[in-house]
Amino acid sequence: MAKLYICEDEKSDELAEFSRLVKDWDGVAVVAKHDSPTGAWIFVAIHSLQLGMAGGGCRLKRYAKPIDGLRDALRLAAGMTQKWAIIGNAFGGGKSVIALSESTTDFDRPALFHRFGAVLNDLGGIYSTGEDLGTRPADMNALAEVTSYVHGVDSSSKPAIDSGPYTAVGVMAGMKTSLEHVLSSSSFKGITILIQGLGSVGGPLARMLAAAGATLLLADVDEARLHSFASELDATIVSGEKLFETECDLFAPCAIGGVITSDVAKRIPTKIICGAANNQLESDEVSAILHQRGVLFAPDYVVNAGGAIAVPMLENGMSEAAVYERLEGVGTTLREILADAASLNESPLLGAARRVNRVLSQSAAQNNPIDPADFISGNLTAYLPSRQPKG
Ligand code: NAI
Repeated sequence: MAKLYICEDEKSDELAEFSRLVKDWDGVAVVAKHDSPTGAWIFVAIHSLQLGMAGGGCRLKRYAKPIDGLRDALRLAAGMTQKWAIIGNAFGGGKSVIALSESTTDFDRPALFHRFGAVLNDLGGIYSTGEDLGTRPADMNALAEVTSYVHGVDSSSKPAIDSGPYTAVGVMAGMKTSLEHVLSSSSFKGITILIQGLGSVGGPLARMLAAAGATLLLADVDEARLHSFASELDATIVSGEKLFETECDLFAPCAIGGVITSDVAKRIPTKIICGAANNQLESDEVSAILHQRGVLFAPDYVVNAGGAIAVPMLENGMSEAAVYERLEGVGTTLREILADAASLNESPLLGAARRVNRVLSQSAAQNNPIDPADFISGNLTAYLPSRQPKG
């Protein structure tokens, strides 16, 4: 059962609702902080400290209700535990979400990231962050002005490392392995790929796939970006309504999570699903539907690990060449998982989960666990549902 931490002066009816959700979560700790100037909620979810201090990106997104942002943070943090275990890095699973309300328009972005940085400082290093959906290198630079718990930024005035293009290289390696597995050839020539989302990851991915000879179908809610990529890459635009009805060899979700619902899984006209978005499946059970239909689902936390691989390597002064070599390894890891799953006639998601469990159960930290209480500042107090929020 995870603990919910709040700031001492927090007052909100929403805390009891948050606490109920957190109580049933299998993670370690969650911080909820209301950001008065913007009306946003800042959530930090720490799922596991078994392999080391938690690391994972920061998502900035508008949500209908704050609890939707918390739910996103909990699932994303669990995905990070799996991702670090798969790539063998000594980090625990964590993720943060800055949940803006749908009515928030203008706000001082660097100031918001400075306040988020203060929350990171209060966590004393048990969680450090980087880029994710809705955040960009400039936000990481703003964080670095107030905290050291941010990755991809050095002490010079250089822009922060953009993890998106590295993630794209890893996704492309995963796509090659998927094609090889399903079509017995890893060539992109004549292969039709539908990409949903042309942001930090989807944009560079689209450019690399076009250069490799794929036929591209593109979708994005940002009309200007969509049209610009379509004309640059001579690609066809697919509307949101036609997304899951359009035939393609490979569907690449590179925007938001939860897009493959059980209904979509039963009908999506593709052979492969392989993309960058975290938590693409509405639930793990959806992978069985895809498996029965013979649609290969490349587990998202395996193929989107490129940024998590590259940023720590670059921070440690390793060369771009060494980074690219390791990014190609995403394809090798996926190949092993697919072979293992095929030998047991089970979905690749189950194969990947078995590999994660093997790593976690062998971890040295099992006998020497990190206790969050040793790090979290007194500015954050554990919230108990039975206690009235102060006010
Ligand atoms: P981003 O914020 O740079 O781009 C997201 C793109 O998706 C934008 O162009 C946006 O307009 C579009 N979009 C949003 N909702 C959409 C919808 N419903 N339908 C179609 N398009 C939509 O985000 P980024 O960094 O490219 O991340 C994309 C996904 O990949 C996210 O799920 C993120 O968690 C995941 N990811 C990103 C990594 C990174 O290094 N940036 C690393 C691992 C995973």
